[in-house]
Amino acid sequence: MQYRTLGSTGVEVSVLGMGAMRLPALDEMTSSANIDVPEAVKLIRRAIDGGVNYLDSAYLYHQQNSEGVVGKALADGYRERVSLATKLPMALVEKTADLDRILDEQLRRFDTDHIDFYLFHGIGAEDWERIVRLELLSAAEKARDAGKIGHICFSFHGEYAAFETIIKGYDNWAFAQVMYNYMDEDNQAGRRGVELAASRGIGIVVMEPLRGGKLARPIPAVQELLDAEGYVGGFADLALRWVWDQAEIGVALSGMTTFEQLEQNLVSADRAAVGGLTDFERQLIAQIREIYRVQNGVPCTACGYCMPCPQNLNIPFAFNLYNEVIAYQYDTESRRVYNLFPTRPAEGCIQCGVCETKCPQGIEISEWMPKIHEQFADPRPIPA
Ligand SMILES: NC(=O)c1ccc[n+]([C@@H]2O[C@H](COP(=O)([O-])OP(=O)(O)OC[C@H]3O[C@@H](n4cnc5c(N)ncnc54)[C@H](OP(=O)(O)O)[C@@H]3O)[C@@H](O)[C@H]2O)c1
Repeated sequence: MQYRTLGSTGVEVSVLGMGAMRLPALDEMTSSANIDVPEAVKLIRRAIDGGVNYLDSAYLYHQQNSEGVVGKALADGYRERVSLATKLPMALVEKTADLDRILDEQLRRFDTDHIDFYLFHGIGAEDWERIVRLELLSAAEKARDAGKIGHICFSFHGEYAAFETIIKGYDNWAFAQVMYNYMDEDNQAGRRGVELAASRGIGIVVMEPLRGGKLARPIPAVQELLDAEGYVGGFADLALRWVWDQAEIGVALSGMTTFEQLEQNLVSADRAAVGGLTDFERQLIAQIREIYRVQNGVPCTACGYCMPCPQNLNIPFAFNLYNEVIAYQYDTESRRVYNLFPTRPAEGCIQCGVCETKCPQGIEISEWMPKIHEQFADPRPIPA
């Protein structure tokens, strides 16, 4: 495992961080709420034993169950071995006192007396206006002075202009957490945002370095390219090392779900190096990018922020089936799986738009759901 200093904090963090948003679940197909707790605890502890010293959770992950499970994993002496990061759910904050109330609940969930890095979760221009208006930074500083949190940070999914406003709007950000991978170099905060933060001594924590898994599994057209070029390295490894190639990056978080993924990424993290990519790998990535730009389907990363849907649709799963058709021409298989469910993943959307207010990728979900349903649904007998 390689370690880097995070921004100006002086804190040494492992280049690979464990994201607790995609923990192993008991019934992955329909719900992320049911975490397989013993498996998740083992996975998190194996990550720490493998050198990971940075964990990222959030109040809302796994339908509010992630923090409690991370807390269980951190019992038996594991808490002292990691920097723990979690996030304030801005959607649940109406008044200044909500920060303290929610933070206290989070401390109880983790069964800890402090959180090392406390983030305003997924903020954009509107949230920033509310943070300023409700004086939430002062509230966070009071919590810091009381020893409940170590550093104040934010995660971000908006456009560059808002990122710049937020970065310049507060002098004591410890880090910014941004979506960053070789497909999103010019998207959201992007490379410009990474450079801006670094120029002010603000650390960068990367989320979705594998674009939620898309850059871990080559689609057929990309696999053909890799074969033609004689590339024998790991595909996820290439994407992770692209992130670590850049000196500004402190931690790359991956939401690892299986031991196999974790072990592979631990090996990659041993090889993390600034300027570590070869010219051949850089050229390969440029070619892969071109293929994905044409065959990317809907840019859903299955982060699950859109969930739960008031109509119980499984939005990420519906997009996944749709994208499989684009990338793999899995038409028959996607249709078969889609129709397995008593209520099919995209069935019954009333276009209320609740999901769209939460989607970090700005996907027009309520436009897509009826289209996907129409494409996949087999006719069903009308109930008597
Ligand atoms: N603050 C925010 O707004 C926000 C938003 C998103 C994420 N996050 C945080 O950032 C973390 C990282 O983002 P992410 O989970 O999207 O990371 P990611 O690394 O882009 O995606 C993780 C997924 O990639 C696949 N994967 C990982 N390693 C692999 C390997 N070696 N081989 C094959 N597949 C592999 C797995 O998908 P499959 O199991 O499907 O194959 C895994 O669930 C999250 O867990 C969360 O803690 C924060």
